[in-house]
Amino acid sequence: MMERGKAPPAEQGAAAGLALARLTHELEVHQVELEAQNLELRAAHAEVVSALADHQALADNLPDLLASFDRDLRHRYVNQAAAAVGPAAAAAYVGRTLAETGIAPAIATVWEARLRHVFATGERTQFEDELPAPGGRRTYLTTLAPVRDAAGVITSVLSLSRDITDFVKAQQDRQRLHRSLAHADRLANLGMLAAGIAHEINNPLCFVLATLEGLVEELAQRAAPDAPRPADAAADTPSTFGELADRGREALASALRIREVARGLGRFARIERDRAAATDVRAPLEAALMLAAHEIKYRATVVRDYAAAPQVAASDGELAQVFLNLIVNAAHAIDEGDVDHNTIHLRIHSADAAVYVEVTDTGRGIAPADLPFIFDAFFTTKAPGKGTGLGLAISREIIHGLGGQLQCEPGPGTGTRFIVRLPALPTTA
Ligand SMILES: Nc1ncnc2c1ncn2[C@@H]1O[C@H](COP(=O)(O)OP(=O)(O)OP(=O)(O)O)[C@@H](O)[C@H]1O
Ligand SMILES: [Mg+2]
Repeated sequence: MMERGKAPPAEQGAAAGLALARLTHELEVHQVELEAQNLELRAAHAEVVSALADHQALADNLPDLLASFDRDLRHRYVNQAAAAVGPAAAAAYVGRTLAETGIAPAIATVWEARLRHVFATGERTQFEDELPAPGGRRTYLTTLAPVRDAAGVITSVLSLSRDITDFVKAQQDRQRLHRSLAHADRLANLGMLAAGIAHEINNPLCFVLATLEGLVEELAQRAAPDAPRPADAAADTPSTFGELADRGREALASALRIREVARGLGRFARIERDRAAATDVRAPLEAALMLAAHEIKYRATVVRDYAAAPQVAASDGELAQVFLNLIVNAAHAIDEGDVDHNTIHLRIHSADAAVYVEVTDTGRGIAPADLPFIFDAFFTTKAPGKGTGLGLAISREIIHGLGGQLQCEPGPGTGTRFIVRLPALPTTA
């Protein structure tokens, strides 16, 4: 008799066979899945390896110097470019500190301090320094950036240095060129204005001399009334002391004017004296006006519209150079002969933390076709020998150097307006 609930052996065998077949099938399905997963993993691995190789190739072929440092300030990686300028081969850096690789101790100390700073603060830093390289010292711009893991902890610092030697040199050459062009512009201006300036000095000087001669003669006469008088001496009645003082004062005023012209010239004479300082735009504007007086006098009336304005950071000489260029241009845009109907309007005002100086003329204006070129060096519409075409180019460069702007817009009627905008210095309450 069979046990209750138990299948006969034949049936049991069939069930076990079925279970085995099912298991085998499942295993086979699993195996196929695993193989597919394996293939995917291999492909992913190959991709990672290839990406790593790409990154490595990229880093190694980068013209910039690339290195990374661990928390002990030991090199984790150095690319070929960095190794090429350093004292050892790329592989020799890994695991070593800067000092251990044979870098000059003074440089190693400074760099380690910078690396420590990035590890401590997590702040990216940038600096410029000169480092020894095989062909001589080179200038590098370096960025140190923290690298963090998934938890945000800084695990290393990446250093990327770019050789900016040629760029720095080009910049210095450009500055030198700008300085010599600016100097040339001043000399050209002085050359052009020399006859007029001589006139501006000569007129008051003649007056001073004539007054002094008269005074000396009269005082000598008073001191020795019986002495013989020159044949051409005026036989008029002696002046009162008050009259003598008035004549003396007039002579003094003329002498002061000569001194002002001489001072105005002094601002131009030596470009190397230019030092930016807190300055009022009014003084250099007046100095420029003084130097250009002779150019203006037969062409236009000067109108001053000066509001109180904060100081700006600039050198008087450079500002006077810019204003002189603008004022002379304004004068040259106006034909001689109608002083009463032409004006050169000078305005100083301030708004939005800036100081504005405007030079507006009632001249012939600028042709639309010329407008895009007026700030280009050597662009001039003046006859040969009358203008170098440097005035506006130099002026714009000077104003940009001071953090400002120089713009041109149509003036009232046919004229032109030039606007100088300079950042105002904070006013001390
Ligand atoms: N206020 C103005 N009115 C009309 N045209 C002007 C004015 N200012 C400048 N220009 C035009 O812009 C040109 C360039 O001016 P810029 O001052 O650079 O050179 P320039 O005056 O010709 O020579 P210089 O080097 O002697 O100053 C001038 O030749 C003129 O055509
Ligand atoms: Mg000019």
